[in-house]
Amino acid sequence: MKRSYKIAVIPGDGTGPEVIKEGVKVLHAVSEVEGFKTELVDYDLGGERYLKTGETLPDGVLEELRQMDAIYLGAIGHPGVKPGILEKGILLRIRFELDLYINLRPVKLYPGVETPIKGKGPAEIDFVIVRENTEGLYAGAGGFLKKGTPDEVATQESINTRKGVERCIRYAFEFCRQRAKAKKLTLCGKTNVLTYAFDLWERAFRELSEEYPDITTDYAHVDAICMWMVKNPEWFDVIVTDNLFGDIITDLGAMIQGGMGIAAGGNINPQRTSMFEPIGGSAPKYTGKNVINPLAAICACQMMLSHLGEKKAAQRIEEAVMQVLKGRLKSLSAGEMGYTTTEVGDLIADYCVKA
Ligand code: IPM
Ligand code: MN
Repeated sequence: MKRSYKIAVIPGDGTGPEVIKEGVKVLHAVSEVEGFKTELVDYDLGGERYLKTGETLPDGVLEELRQMDAIYLGAIGHPGVKPGILEKGILLRIRFELDLYINLRPVKLYPGVETPIKGKGPAEIDFVIVRENTEGLYAGAGGFLKKGTPDEVATQESINTRKGVERCIRYAFEFCRQRAKAKKLTLCGKTNVLTYAFDLWERAFRELSEEYPDITTDYAHVDAICMWMVKNPEWFDVIVTDNLFGDIITDLGAMIQGGMGIAAGGNINPQRTSMFEPIGGSAPKYTGKNVINPLAAICACQMMLSHLGEKKAAQRIEEAVMQVLKGRLKSLSAGEMGYTTTEVGDLIADYCVKA
């Protein structure tokens, strides 16, 4: 096993740098105890750089990112920049150009964390959403006709390729198998209205399911999934869905697992460089206050190490997170944790070394 990793660090905007700093602290702590090496390369991509230079993601930087073992991202989004520029120019561009076709988002309620769902606990809230990450409505197909006139037309088309859909569903089946929990994969779609896109999804799903007789399959419309995620989250093991539905239901998932303070995700290409991030965004109003919760970024670091094959280090981090959640934090919300951002990072790093 290769035990030395070159990692691109993109702290990004808002509270991104604060949470990434704690993640890096934890990364150093576990690399020390587990005996692997990291070489971190910082990139100042984000709103500030864009405002200064007009650059979002220069081609040269993109080429460097391709050569990394992993990318660790804080947050992209700046109140001084028109929505869409940084998101499309940096985050989505990395996802597309590096072909990070899976967005893997665990929804796991840890003991000691409050969920807004009455009567449900860690035993009921533990599933994973596999979101397609390079196609669908995010592909950017569409445009304007007669823009700015009373006859204006805007279209936005969902692109679903057989290859793209199939590789995503295959990943979900494989993931479900190796997760080895309920071994149930649910396709989330909208076959009653989106009769082209989700017809393709449904057929690919059914055909691939033949190769996975050990996995129980299920289907639900996206609106019903929203309902069941709240009413009966224990029904889910792994959910696979398209880009936009995945975007929406993973925010719902983040809330039921305790909030954005703990929600992490991986943008994955199983064969190449992948990128890991807290899913919460740049939270401009908390920037620089040392109050934001770094646990989501720390959990993203844990996912990154697990992906790189450093399973023991990843386990250390997860155990440390569980310890801190059980006995320490008053809340996961910014400013209400009972600790500062840096103190939470210190607590986790200490547990990682002790355990
Ligand atoms: C996410 C975010 C992004 C998305 C935005 C920032 C473009 O909401 O990672 O879920 O929609 O994918
Ligand atoms: Mn989102």
